[in-house]
Amino acid sequence: MLSAVSRPYIAASVPVLREHGVTITLCFYRRLFAAHPELKNIFNMPNQESGIQQQALASAIFAYAANIDHPDALAPVISRIAHKHVSLGIKAEHYPIVGKHLLDAIAEVLGAAATPALLAAWSEAYGMLADALIAAERALYQAHGVEPGEYRSVTVVRKQKESETVTSFYLQATDGAVLPSFQPGQYISVAVDVAELSLRQLRQYSLSDAPGNGHWRISVKREEGSPAGLVSNLLHDQYREGDVLWVSPPCGDFVMSTETADTPLVLISAGVGVTPMMSMLQGSLQQHPDRPVNFLYATLDGRHHPLKRELDRLLLQHGRMQSYVAYERPAANDCVPQDYQQQGHLRLATVPDALLPQNAAYFLCGPAPFMHAQHQALLARGVAERQIRQEVFGPSLLGHLQ
Ligand code: HEM
Repeated sequence: MLSAVSRPYIAASVPVLREHGVTITLCFYRRLFAAHPELKNIFNMPNQESGIQQQALASAIFAYAANIDHPDALAPVISRIAHKHVSLGIKAEHYPIVGKHLLDAIAEVLGAAATPALLAAWSEAYGMLADALIAAERALYQAHGVEPGEYRSVTVVRKQKESETVTSFYLQATDGAVLPSFQPGQYISVAVDVAELSLRQLRQYSLSDAPGNGHWRISVKREEGSPAGLVSNLLHDQYREGDVLWVSPPCGDFVMSTETADTPLVLISAGVGVTPMMSMLQGSLQQHPDRPVNFLYATLDGRHHPLKRELDRLLLQHGRMQSYVAYERPAANDCVPQDYQQQGHLRLATVPDALLPQNAAYFLCGPAPFMHAQHQALLARGVAERQIRQEVFGPSLLGHLQ
């Protein structure tokens, strides 16, 4: 528990942080990278320029301050961040470095308002959060049997175009060992040398196949014209079968864990958000072939429908599986109902009830506005909040804590 001395300082600084959070975070990164340029290899540098990461860290600070007396509310956040940090190879010794530059940034931006008592309170609060993250990350590293920052070498054994923009990479251990299993819904970080930045960069990609198939598979979307697509585009353009990549252990807590095998499963995704869903679908069908599973997917049209053949094959093989597809702007050769069943954005209000059972476990993945719309639509249909899990690609803004 935060000390009684520090608590009022933290509580009182929430509005100040809301006002200055992004400025403090910008100042923090400037200081951090000036003192430790090697850390640029760990951070997503295009995100730095776009301001996305600034928002993410600021949100984490707000969330922590606002929930200082509610550790239960912080638990899911700690879990999400710890998984992300482990995939990035964050070490315990990084924490004092980040803590120092964060406090220096708060002092610089707040000026005289950053009294020694306020800074001491934040030092204590940061220390508590750091301790919780370090412990959670140590447990994950131990469970994987790796040292922090230890990556493994994998070979691209197959490269398969899945749609106009998505290509799958099938990976096997370069040393011939069997790759560890994973839970459907998890991701790996992939390390790539980016010559134009003179840096190594890490990106997370969901594993898109079931565990136990003798390989890991990632399905990567090309991001035209986007600086954030730097690594994805390099993978598309420069990595071929036989090439070697360095990857983290599988991480992430967006997994099927709490619900039982007789609960129907409903997987709702859009765009490249289909990737963890395909893994969950395959994993569920393999482990519990009798479990009803409904797969709802939204994309632009048939040319932008990755893994469609795989989905169609599974539909033929599994009588308890149903699928429902929305094409935003179907092409002339996209057919109803073989290719898609709804035109425009996916609207759950008009989806047949049989696809959205009241007692199902719901998983959502896709762009934030898409997930927000589906989440609201599910609640409106009487699905309880606790039945819905969702995965945000990119830094989560931790909205549920704000
Ligand atoms: C108490 C301390 C810390 C907090 C509260 C924190 C919080 C966060 C949050 C909220 C995210 C976004 C997670 C998501 O994807 O939803 C994140 C990502 C990240 N964190 Fe931390 N973090 C802390 C310490 C550290 C340390 C010590 C390092 C190591 C230098 C670090 C490096 C990163 C990196 C590299 C990312 C990914 C974002 C990017 O690539 O730019 N963090 N952290």
